[in-house]
Formats: sequence, C-alpha cells, structure tokens
Amino acid sequence: MKNYSIAAIPADGIGPEVISAGIDVLKALEKRLGTLRFSFQTFEWGSDYYKAHGVMMPEDGLAQLKAFDAIYFGAVGAPDVPDHITLWGLRLPICQGFDQYANVRPTRILPGIESPLRHAGPGALDWVIVRENSEGEYSGNGGRAHRGLPEEVGTEVAIFTRVGVTRIMRYAFRLAQSRPRKLLTVVTKSNAQRHGMVMWDEIAAEVAAEFPDVSWDKILVDAMTVRMTLHPQSLDTIVATNLHADILSDLAGALAGSLGVAPTANIDPERRFPSMFEPIHGSAFDITGKGIANPVASFWTAAQMLEHLGEADAAALLLSAVDQVCAAGIKTPDVGGSATTRQVTDAVIHAILES
Ligand code: NAI
Ligand code: MG
Repeated sequence: MKNYSIAAIPADGIGPEVISAGIDVLKALEKRLGTLRFSFQTFEWGSDYYKAHGVMMPEDGLAQLKAFDAIYFGAVGAPDVPDHITLWGLRLPICQGFDQYANVRPTRILPGIESPLRHAGPGALDWVIVRENSEGEYSGNGGRAHRGLPEEVGTEVAIFTRVGVTRIMRYAFRLAQSRPRKLLTVVTKSNAQRHGMVMWDEIAAEVAAEFPDVSWDKILVDAMTVRMTLHPQSLDTIVATNLHADILSDLAGALAGSLGVAPTANIDPERRFPSMFEPIHGSAFDITGKGIANPVASFWTAAQMLEHLGEADAAALLLSAVDQVCAAGIKTPDVGGSATTRQVTDAVIHAILES
C-alpha cells in the first residue's frame, strides 16, 4: 500500500466546488485499486483568509506545505480583491518558492465534447504545452515611480537566464521524446524582442542537439495562434515563455471545447519540493455556488498528479472514466450539457468503481 499526503488548497470561487469533487473521485480510485491511499489536509487560504488576516496565506505557508507529496489547488480570485494581490499572494509564491519551473498543460478534444473548430473531432488535437514557469515576463522584476504624476513610469522587465531557458528546453525536448510523434514546436518572438528571445532561440538549438530523435521547429507567437486554429494536427509538444504559453494555453483550452476541462501541472522536475496540480480556469465568480462548475479539469489535473507520483495505471483509469462519462453526454452547461457538478462527479465515480 502506497501512502500519499496531499495538501488541498481549494481557495476561491468555484475552487472549493471542483476540488471537493476531485477528492471524492480520488477516494473512489483508492477504493477501486486498494493499492494506494491519500491523506488530504485542506488549507483554508485565499481571499476570505486575506479579508480576515491581510494576507492570502500565513507567513510560514510554504514551510507548512513542504513536506507534502503534492498540492491540489483550486483557483484564486475574488470580485472585491485586486487580482494581482490574489495571484501574487498565493499561487505565484508557491510556484516560485518551490521552483516549479515546468508548467505542463495537456489539451485534447474529449469524446462527446465539440470543438469550435468545424473540422476538428476527437484525435484532431492532442497537444502538450510546456510553459516556462519561473522567470520570463512574470519574473516580477520592474517597478513604478512618480506615482500619480504626469511623468509616472511603470516597468515590467522580462528576465531570461541561461539556466532557466536551458532547463525548460530540456524538459520540453524530453517530454516530446516520450510521446509517439517526437515532435516539438518552440514558440518565440525573436523578430521583435531581440535580446532574451534571441537567446531563447539559440539555447533551443543547442538543447536540440542533445535530442537527435526529436523533430523540432520554431514559430513566432503571433503565427502560432493561426497554426493552432488552422492546422491543429501539425502540433504535438509545444514550449513557450511564461506569458506566451499563458495566452496560448487559454486558446488551446477554448479550441478543445471549454476552459472547464483544461488542466495544468506546476512541476519541480528535480523533486526537491512538492509539485502543484490545478485546473487552468480561475474562480469563475459568475457561476460560483450554482453547482454547475465543470469538474473535468480538476479530475484531469488529479490524473497528472497521479502520473507525477508514479501511479500511471491509476491516472489512466481516471482518464478513461472521464472519457466514458463525457462520451455518454453527462456534461455541464459550459460544454453543452445540462448535468450538475455532482452528477458528473457521481458518474465518474461510478465508472471508476465499475471498471
Ligand atoms: P475564469 O476562468 O474564472 O472564467 C472565465 C469563464 O469561463 C467564465 O465565464 C466562467 O464561468 C467559465 N469557466 C471557468 N471555469 C469553468 C468551469 N470549471 N466550469 C464552467 N465554466 C467555467 O476567468 P476570469 O473570469 O477571467 O477570472 C475570474 C477570476 O479568476 C479573476 O479574479 C482572475 O484573476 C482569477 N483567475 C485565477 C486563476 C488561477 O487561480 N489559476 C486563473 C485565471 C483567472
Ligand atoms: Mg491564464
């Protein structure tokens, strides 16, 4: 029996709804397999905690999380707290503090879910986007001066380091190598951004030499939006900067049918710290409390967590249960169905227990 300790941080909006659904599904897997056990500890951090204490998490938050095998995260964001406070107060300190430098975002059109692309059915789009998650445009470097005066300035400085770019390229090439097509697309903007992005391209070419069996190409980020939309089959594994991949992965989620199904893993590949698994979507306050949040992204990211923990069979079982339920048309309204979060969750649990 393997024991895994999981820190759950449901946080804001629909976060608690989809994380509790995910915990129920993981418990069903536990029951079905009998070979693994999860002990969950829930941390009530987020915007309510901020309103009570003036911070999104306690000062020793990272120390409290460090001993866990993984972190299962919902979403942050509240209508009455500025977004840069919620994001920089909880999610980013965890990603940066635990050096989760590889953000991995798989996209696939699930059975029974319609892509807005007219000709793309299941199988037409099967991508993994690797997002640099520790530096680049979101390094936090910059500042404001002369606030409120006509001469006010704000700078937002993108930082690219040789260490940072090399390690994300290696991660992406290795991931591409592990997938059947062995195909990597490097996204860049080295025509307009002639310093950091040119170095990014050079390091991509250097790392490529270590992976002779991986075919790779390079594309400007603006052209990439066109390629994703018009030639989705031409892509497999994709690597991009923090900002570029942030934007492209929302597009990927939309092309696969809904943001409500898109998962993400914030990985420390060296396993010095716990990695963090979360849906891509935010707190979705427009649907909070209505019981209709799509839990599929939080199930899929739970499968990523299982894979990271070395439980590939459990991950495959979970994903196949999700596929079955989607194919049967048990879907929430964001993907054209009429089921509730609870109904989708119960159907996935049923599929796991009956498998
Ligand atoms: P959002 O992802 O929360 O919502 C965008 C749209 O997608 C909304 O119409 C929402 O109802 C829908 N949606 C999202 N997830 C869904 C799900 N599971 N099922 C059904 N429909 C779903 O993004 P938005 O509205 O831009 O941001 C809301 C708040 O979330 C903001 O405060 C933002 O800063 C925060 N946010 C947090 C993120 C995180 O914690 N990682 C990521 C993105 C946004
Ligand atoms: Mg985003």
